[in-house]
Amino acid sequence: SSGRLWGGRFSGGPAEAMFALSVSTQFDWRLARYDLAGSRAHAAALHRADLLTDDELAAMVDGLDRLEADVVSGAFRPTPTDEDVHGALERGLIALLGSELGGRLRAGRSRNDQIATLLRLYLRDSLRAVGTELLGLVAALQQQARTHLGVAMPGRTHLQHAQPVLLSHHLLAHAWPLLRDLDRIVDLDKRLSISPYGSGALAGTSLGLDPQAVALDLGFVDSVPNSIDGTAARDLAAEAGYVLAQTAVDLSRLSEDVILWCTHEFGFATLDDAWSTGSSIMPQKKNPDVAELARGKAGRLIGNLAGLLATLKGLPLAYNRDLQEDKEPLFDSIDQLLVLVPAVAGMVGTLTFHPDRLESLAPRGFSLATDVADWLVRRRVPFAEAHELAGACVRRCEREGIELADLTPEMLQEISAQLTPDVLSVLTVEGSINSRNGRGGTATARVAEQLEELAAQAATF
Ligand code: ARG
Repeated sequence: SSGRLWGGRFSGGPAEAMFALSVSTQFDWRLARYDLAGSRAHAAALHRADLLTDDELAAMVDGLDRLEADVVSGAFRPTPTDEDVHGALERGLIALLGSELGGRLRAGRSRNDQIATLLRLYLRDSLRAVGTELLGLVAALQQQARTHLGVAMPGRTHLQHAQPVLLSHHLLAHAWPLLRDLDRIVDLDKRLSISPYGSGALAGTSLGLDPQAVALDLGFVDSVPNSIDGTAARDLAAEAGYVLAQTAVDLSRLSEDVILWCTHEFGFATLDDAWSTGSSIMPQKKNPDVAELARGKAGRLIGNLAGLLATLKGLPLAYNRDLQEDKEPLFDSIDQLLVLVPAVAGMVGTLTFHPDRLESLAPRGFSLATDVADWLVRRRVPFAEAHELAGACVRRCEREGIELADLTPEMLQEISAQLTPDVLSVLTVEGSINSRNGRGGTATARVAEQLEELAAQAATF
């Protein structure tokens, strides 16, 4: 057998360049074990439909098991004449069992329903593996947040000092999106748990095979209700592409913070030697390459998603060969995240923060101005007026080259009679942080609760 699954109506083999274009074993071989699992379930379905005898089924399953062992050991590999994973494995099975038995397995199935099924099986496993790595990164953020509970830092909007926050609050703000990515993975698994096997080429199977039994055999929850949709749909592939790209974007945003924090100008943190790189010319350099690769790869994963959606947008029903282009972007996105997430976890878990530097910058840039306004509001001044007065304080500070806490009682009185000296009591970072004590706020007690909440949610995955 040549490993070609068609040929009866052709007078010769494909042209060399035609075959070179068509061949997909270089990337779809990673689906071989899923293909073999599908074949076992399909053989059982043929047997239940009386299309294989008891002995034939036993021999078929034995052949598939032996072939799988050879695939795992590497003894069996695609050859240059195999078009795809399906053809290669049929060639291998026929080599083991002969064409009389080996040639029976293909009845009632098509590569169209096979590949759609294998992709779902693969995505279910791979997304779970990505999820496990994400939990490691969440744990690293959690541990850093726990260690530094109480340390204040400048909170920023527009990259400008805004209001002081706890470093732990900021770190946890990077953990929550990752838990949502995990939640998306779990949610997508629900939709991936429906099997297209039995859809045939597009119209369904005619041999009395039971798609639902095959689905359950393969660990799916059910089979598809529509065979055309079963073979043609790739929205789930695109959804996986999105979840993976979004995860990369979340890693990228975290990484951008790390890159800034480790600059000389920020000086918030220092990278561990094991998670940074040097320069071939500048001896002093310690570069945040993990974070930069995360930022770079986010672009790549966005590209994978965009390419996949572009492949799908013009396709008529049902199967079209364009769909073969769905696999490489997804495989790439998964491969990238499986190397990237553990590295980002290592980088985050080993970051050394500099609490003195963080704390000393927290009140700078007039970041307590909102606290002045809030203090006035508590004294029944309308917020619009309070905002104006706090702004006037800032203007005065800029003129004097001082910070808000340095305003004297006389300066405050000049701005407004309402600014009595006890306003200075709220001009502390600690007071500011602990006044933000509504649910989700940066007050230390709230962040301590948040740590517990995050741990409890992470434990559900
Ligand atoms: N290699 C194809 C794919 O990845 C599956 C085979 C279907 N090919 C076909 N000519 N119907 O989508």
